[in-house]
Order: sequence, then C-alpha cells, then structure tokens
Amino acid sequence: MQKFRITGGLSLKGEIEVSSAKNSILPIIAATILCDDECVIENFPILEDVSVICDVLRSLNVDVKADVVDSILKINGKSMHSLNLSENLIRKMRASFLVLGPLLSRFGKARVYMPGGCNIGLRPIDLHLKGLSALGADISIVDGCVEISAKKLIGSTVYLDFPSVGATENLIMAATLAEGKTVIENAAKEPEIIDLAIFINGMGGDIEGAGTSRIVIHGVKKLKGVRHVPIYDRIEAGTYIALAAITKSKIKIKGVNEEYLRPIISKFYEMGLKINFDGSDIIVDGNVDLKPINIKTLPHPGFPTDMQPQFMSLLSLVSGTSTIVETIFENRFMHVMELRRMGANISIYDRVAVIDGVKSFVPSRVKATDLRAGAALILAALSCKGESEITDIYHIDRGYAQIENKLKNLNAKIVRIDE
Ligand code: EPZ
Repeated sequence: MQKFRITGGLSLKGEIEVSSAKNSILPIIAATILCDDECVIENFPILEDVSVICDVLRSLNVDVKADVVDSILKINGKSMHSLNLSENLIRKMRASFLVLGPLLSRFGKARVYMPGGCNIGLRPIDLHLKGLSALGADISIVDGCVEISAKKLIGSTVYLDFPSVGATENLIMAATLAEGKTVIENAAKEPEIIDLAIFINGMGGDIEGAGTSRIVIHGVKKLKGVRHVPIYDRIEAGTYIALAAITKSKIKIKGVNEEYLRPIISKFYEMGLKINFDGSDIIVDGNVDLKPINIKTLPHPGFPTDMQPQFMSLLSLVSGTSTIVETIFENRFMHVMELRRMGANISIYDRVAVIDGVKSFVPSRVKATDLRAGAALILAALSCKGESEITDIYHIDRGYAQIENKLKNLNAKIVRIDE
C-alpha cells in the first residue's frame, strides 16, 4: 500500500496540464471491440482504471498495445473469442461492465460478472438490463453473473427511469449494430457521451442527439477502425481550480474548453473566484475571500457529483454556512469523516451536508475512501501548514494521472511513500 506525505501551507504557482477524461476513455476502449479492425486512441492517460479495462479486453483475447511514451493505445478486436469476463477484473472496476453492450452486439451473447457496489453506493445495473432486454436480449442472473444472449438485437425505444451515464453508454454500444432504429429517451447528457458517439460515428456508426436527452441510433452492418483523441477530463480540471482556490494561489490550467466546465465554473463564480479563459487555458487567481454557497449534485448539465468532495473541502474553509445536497449517490459523504479529522465542521442529515467554515484545516493522517474523496483530501492537506498523510491512495491513482508530479510542478510538497 502507498501513501502521500504532504507538507501544506505553501503558495502554489505555475502551470498544470489536464489529461484525457477517464470517464470518456473507458467506454471508448470498450467500444473498440464493436469492430474487428485496429482502433488507435491518442493521448491516453496513465491511469489504473485504463490498465484494468485494457486487461479486461486482453482476457477476451483482444490485441491491446499501450505505448506509454507516446500515449498511444492500439486495440484490435479481430482475434476476440472468449466471452466470459473474469470475476476479479470486474470486481476491480465496475466500469468493465461497459463491455457488456459491445460483446452482445458483436457476438450475440455474453457472460459478465455482476459489478459490485463500491464505497459510494450500491451502483445497481437494472437500467442497463432493462434497456438491453428492450432490444431483444434474454437475460438471466446465474452464480452472480449476468448471462445475456440475443439471436439478433432489434432497435426499439428505451425510456431510462434515470439518466444513467453507464446505461446510456451500454445501450448506445448495443444499438450500434442492432437492426433498425433505437431511441433512448431520458438519456444521460454528459460530455463523455458525446465523445463516445463521435468515436463510434468515426467507426461508421450512425448516432444522433448525443448530449441531449433523446439519442437516436440507426443500426449499421459493420464498423471499421478509427483514430481518436478523447476529450479532456473536466473533473480533473475542476479539481485544479479548487486547488488554486483552497491554497489561495494563482495557477494556469492547460488543455480545457469552457463549454464542458460551465456547471462547475458557475459555482466557483458564485463563490467569487476569479477565473479567466485564455484559449484552451484557464488562469485562476485564488487569492480572494470566497463566499459560502449551496450546491445540489444533478445529472449533466447540473453540478457534477464527481466534484462534490472537492467543493466540500473548499467550502470547509469559507466563513459562513454552505450546504451540499448529494442527489446522485446514496453514500458519497465518506470524505466527511476524514475532513472532520482535519478539523472541518460538517454535519450530515441523510443526503444533506451543512458546512460551517473554519479558519484552517489541521494537518492529520487521513484515508482516501474513494477516488474523488482522495482528491478532496489532497486539497485539504495542501491548504494547511504542516505535514499530513493520506493512505489508500490507490483510489486516487484510478483517476488522476501522475498527480504528484503535476502538483510538484506547481511547487507543492508531496511525496509518494510505500507503507
Ligand atoms: C459514471 O458512473 C461515472 N463513471 C461516475 O464517475 C459518475 O459519478 C457517474 O457516472 C455520474 O455522473 C464512469 O463514467 C466510469 P450512473 P455510472 O449510472 O455510469 C443509479 C468517478 O469518480 N443507477 O449515471 O455508474 C446509480 O445507483 C466516477 O469518476 C441505477 O439506479 O453512474 C446512481 O445513483 C464515480 N440503475 C445513479 O444512477 C442503473 O442501472 C447514477 O449512476 C444505473 C445507475
């Protein structure tokens, strides 16, 4: 196990580059098996989750070449055969469940272990399965596995009870090679859905309306390989804006676009943070007094749940009372306990957090409980004078590429230590 040792209280400065979006590249890697040709994905981020999903594809005998020097992934599903996904890989990362749609589409059957829940919630898959059966799939749950088959997937209209990101992605991939037209109503509108549609359309798919709540997919016969550069990680970018704010530093964040950041930026503006856009860069001057605000997490274009823990850290140091309502996941306040250890004054009432600002965090030894909670603890540790330690940082490595190197470039004092 590894931990970060952080000496906080320093003013940061300089530039930080945002990597490609984890939540875009994972479904895109899954989608490569829709064709038996080589797909090339550029600028892929060195993340634990990316290597896990590549191992999932390798366990299906897909040829995956990862060039970490040039950040190029070459994936060829030509020689795919086995359809049983190993349990440990699925348990390692629930996003592996995204291969269900492509497997069904390509082979007409699949056997995939039920993805487990995780620290932030039960993470059910009922909407995935409801949608796939609407396309004609027969589904049974045997020994903790989803056994799914369909002689032929037939386009249909699917209404998602909740705009689930993963269910929308699985259904888009399953409908791509189905016969006829599929309509997904109440679809997720996240930018990563748009990126997946661009990727599949580049392969020869026919998807309209990605980014809206009504997505129409016209089934095609065959797809070909494509070269693609995934979008940047808006959550990583938002995390670095929060970093500038919480350390009262002026930093430049490189490789973003304003459109995908709008739901996050609007909350920073409401707090009084100064953010200027310069082409694909953001200049943030955190040396301002911020105001308390109220936040409610919602599906895109609402405020993203993946930025909730980072704002929790930041609002803990803003004088006055702020509130955060977490409407997406039922257990996404695990970081509150750890922030309390550092002196935060936060009360939880079911899905509502009431945050009373304190002068400063107290450097402490805390534990990352999930990916974004870990990021929130890094922000808290960098904000206060003294030495903190964050354990279980494998959570953080899942979604933040080379985080300590990027932070060191900003003058942060952070070292990775083997426990
Ligand atoms: C994706 O998870 C992201 N992960 C999550 O990011 C993100 O928090 C989430 O979307 C919401 O934006 C990836 O893209 C790999 P959902 P996903 O299906 O697809 C309920 C991170 O930190 N639901 O939109 O699993 C579910 O319980 C991670 O990068 C059902 O009820 O999210 C939850 O309450 C964390 N039935 C809500 O929908 C279903 O069949 C949102 O889930 C599916 C979901």
